[in-house]
Amino acid sequence: MRVYTRHLFVCTACSPRAQEIIASLKEKVKASGLHEVVRVNAAGCLRQCDRPIQAVVYPEGTWYGDICADDIEELFTSHLVAGVPIERLLLQNLEEQQPLSPSTEPAARTKAA
Ligand code: FES
Repeated sequence: MRVYTRHLFVCTACSPRAQEIIASLKEKVKASGLHEVVRVNAAGCLRQCDRPIQAVVYPEGTWYGDICADDIEELFTSHLVAGVPIERLLLQNLEEQQPLSPSTEPAARTKAA
């Protein structure tokens, strides 16, 4: 059985943009030669639906929200390779800084600087 050092699951139900993020991250994993230890998978709803593009990294169980294309490089190098979570994208930090109502449209949401 293969055991991954880090396994990222990205919800594809949050936004159609999730597929682009997954594809980019998979390309980076493959190009880096880390495919034996790092894996990126599409997932269905992760039941954390109040922000667009949710993801979780195991084995740590680190939850991210509001992931966009600009975050791909940092997510790959900082967390998937180096094991350092991205504080500004942590779900618990986002909820404290910028609570969203359930009616907020994903396109109207902006990432915290
Ligand atoms: S729709 Fe993405 S976490 Fe539920």
